[in-house]
Amino acid sequence: MTNKDIFPINGTDYIEFYVGNSKQAAIFYQAGMGFKLVAYRGPLTGVPDRESYVVQQGKIRFVLTSAISGDHEIAKHVNKHGDGVKDLALWVDDAKQSFETAIARGAEIAYEPYTITDDNGSVTLAAIKTYGETIHTFVERKNYKGLFLPGFEAKENDRKDLDCGLKVVDHCVGNVGWGQMDIWTKFYQEVMGFELLVTFDDKDISTKYTALMSKVVSNINGNGYIKFPINEPAKGLKKSQIEEYLDFYEGAGVQHIALMTHDIIATIERLRENGIEFLYVPDTYYDTVTERVGEIEEDMEMLKKLNILIDRDEEGYLLQLFTKPVMNRPTVFFEIIQRKGAESFGKGNFQALFESIEREQELRGTL
Ligand code: FE2
Repeated sequence: MTNKDIFPINGTDYIEFYVGNSKQAAIFYQAGMGFKLVAYRGPLTGVPDRESYVVQQGKIRFVLTSAISGDHEIAKHVNKHGDGVKDLALWVDDAKQSFETAIARGAEIAYEPYTITDDNGSVTLAAIKTYGETIHTFVERKNYKGLFLPGFEAKENDRKDLDCGLKVVDHCVGNVGWGQMDIWTKFYQEVMGFELLVTFDDKDISTKYTALMSKVVSNINGNGYIKFPINEPAKGLKKSQIEEYLDFYEGAGVQHIALMTHDIIATIERLRENGIEFLYVPDTYYDTVTERVGEIEEDMEMLKKLNILIDRDEEGYLLQLFTKPVMNRPTVFFEIIQRKGAESFGKGNFQALFESIEREQELRGTL
């Protein structure tokens, strides 16, 4: 630890998606991604204007929310951005204090602190704005023993538990506009005392055609659980994949959420069986990979069969793979990651990966 942690965060509390049809999205996350349905709030529990389903796997909690009427702010969000991430909610011990610190240090108010109560206790919530229309809710749940938040009712179904081995949120990546990366990394440094972990410039992340820049900020003065890489487009011969995202999302927003597993081979096998689609990795990637990453414990044939990518840094290695976009628009996708000592983000895979993304951009006619 180099500095005092001015903004204590326990971890990611939940990630809320605004979607067109939360009832059906909940099935996708269960049947496709291995989540379990745990809670519900909506017209059936006395909240007439929106319907939310909460799904959970390991410590990962997603809230899927849709509006019930067309002129609702949630419907407008979906109309503009397509299905997307609204809220990267952070678990704190004192939501009011977190909120006040953030505002005093330059954040904008999304909503003021308020406390909700039911038989299981109370939760205090407050939120600040970040890039695009995305927000961070601060969730204080130390006086609550219910399963999610007051107002949500437990909800289960008869689906068999087909967990895919996903455990925690590893990192959440934002895409922001030209020249905005430094503004938003500075925002996290100033508002939450995060520190810069790594910087990738367009020399690190470019193919023949498209380029991007990225900086990663994290609460490394605290537990280091929160890692927010921020990307911006860079000039290339053709359109950057970040620019494509910004066009389709109609603004800045969350690009991908990395979910950690302790057994990536079992996880990817299960996800593929469930019909989840991943970015294609050319067979040639595996011709030189051992040279680049050295010896690893996993069976290389298995990794090749499942298209899993490998990278090494000074501390160890990591295994990762990226889904195709999971929305209709080429916007949000998931990364599946297993860390074997490595604390980095797979820089050595960028080249193979971006060539794969470009193949898809070309098919969409947006390259
Ligand atoms: Fe990532």
